[in-house]
Amino acid sequence: MFRMARDYAARWPLSPMRNTWLVAVAIILITQDIGAQKVRVDDKLEAYPTESVDLHCEFIDGGGKTKLTQVSWIWEPVDGQRDNIAVYHPIYGQSFPNLAFKDRVVFLHNSLENPSIKISNLRMSDAGRYTCEYATYPSGNEQGTTTLTMLAKPKNSATVVTVQAGTKSVVVAQCEAVEGKPAATIKWLPPFGGNHSMSTTNGPDGTVTVRSEYRLVPTPADNGREVTCMIDQRTQDRPWVYPVKLSVEYPPSVSIEGYDNNWYVGRSDVVLLCLANANPAPTTITWTMASGPLPDTVEVDGNKLTVRKVDDTVNTTFTCEVKNKHGASSHQITTVVIEKKRVITSAPPTGAVIGGILGALVIIGIIVAAVFFIHKYHEDGEGPPKHKPPPPMKAGSSTEMLNKPSGPPTTAETAPLSPGEVYYEPTGAEPVTNLDDEATGALNGGAPPVFDDNINELKDHAADGHHGNDLDSSNQEAPAANIARGESFVSPAMYV
Ligand SMILES: *[C@@H]1O[C@H](CO)[C@@H](O)[C@H](O)[C@H]1NC(C)=O
Ligand SMILES: *[C@@H]1O[C@H](CO)[C@@H](O)[C@H](O)[C@H]1NC(C)=O
Repeated sequence: MFRMARDYAARWPLSPMRNTWLVAVAIILITQDIGAQKVRVDDKLEAYPTESVDLHCEFIDGGGKTKLTQVSWIWEPVDGQRDNIAVYHPIYGQSFPNLAFKDRVVFLHNSLENPSIKISNLRMSDAGRYTCEYATYPSGNEQGTTTLTMLAKPKNSATVVTVQAGTKSVVVAQCEAVEGKPAATIKWLPPFGGNHSMSTTNGPDGTVTVRSEYRLVPTPADNGREVTCMIDQRTQDRPWVYPVKLSVEYPPSVSIEGYDNNWYVGRSDVVLLCLANANPAPTTITWTMASGPLPDTVEVDGNKLTVRKVDDTVNTTFTCEVKNKHGASSHQITTVVIEKKRVITSAPPTGAVIGGILGALVIIGIIVAAVFFIHKYHEDGEGPPKHKPPPPMKAGSSTEMLNKPSGPPTTAETAPLSPGEVYYEPTGAEPVTNLDDEATGALNGGAPPVFDDNINELKDHAADGHHGNDLDSSNQEAPAANIARGESFVSPAMYV
């Protein structure tokens, strides 16, 4: 007996101290004061189903006085239930009395001092307390206990629930973490105007299924909004995050655009557009006319109605009706045919916008021209003191100067004006004031007060295609760039 014990003791240092744990974290504690506690085991272990785990156990006998007779592993799935799953006796050998563990448990070393075991093909139900218990002489039983926690990665998913817009709070998205252990937590980001509910279901094997439903009172505006489901769980390195695009369906809402209050007799190709907001997309769009069937001069292509030639047959009310599976909705517009083209003062809102844009183009054109003009002066200006502030410019002359040169450079830009005939006239006045400011700024480089002589030069210059090169006085800081552009290198050099 003593000899055997000595043999085992001699073999001990050769045995591997630790196998690679399959477990994320193994907190190893020497459970109690070594002097008192002679059986050393891991305090806690974690493992996943189908994998395996090593349960370590060593008998620490400082003085070598204790005699070991037998060691057993006892499994306690719940308090009070003790099942012996592995027994080692130095003479009688190994025994695995529990059928549930038979063929899944082996001793790692054929050693009474190191009766560590490996349990393979783990099941969720293997969780519990495992006690390594020695029968010794003379001190009686000695033991150490490892708690094995079985973990399970949840199967996560998030789904959208298509709903119809309404006034009641309904579930619009769901998120679930199925059969995780420990239980997952579910959050929704961002938590806009909605509620979420959480429910948990315990599985028979100790896993937990967590479900969360996101609710809100769905409006058309919520369609396409994103909510994000975030699932946190112990076995995941990072939260599982999944954005869900809400799907809210609603009947159409309809509007008609394109009528400009200026349907005069003889006008051609006026267009009405029927705009519908609907989810799902409209199935039908129908144009009707209050005065009867659509005349030959009216063409319909989906949501677009074109009147090829305006006459009194379209002096009526048009209705556009749009349907989808949730309902139908219509909008109507009364088009008044007038005898003569209307003039500016009653310019419709859309026309005004276009007019404004065109006006802006004119302004830009004039500014470009003016800056050119000024720069030209600057280049050709005889006086060496280029940095001197410019002589004050008379408002009258500036206006004149602007009006004249605005001709050539703006031609191209004002081309789109032709249909909008009227609108740039009022806005055309603005550039003069704006330009004064602009011009004053640009004139910092110096400009002689004489303008008339330079109009031709301006035209030439414009024809050269040098537009805009010198718009900004900051160019003075980069003369090299000017030279590179093929400008006269004399002029930039003078800035320095
Ligand atoms: C959220 O829940 C609270 C209490 O259950 C309820 O009063 C509230 O109306 C809910 N809000 C929404 C948007 O469903
Ligand atoms: C269109 O109808 C209005 C009355 O609704 C009428 O005043 C106008 O003269 C009509 N226009 C033409 C061109 O018939």
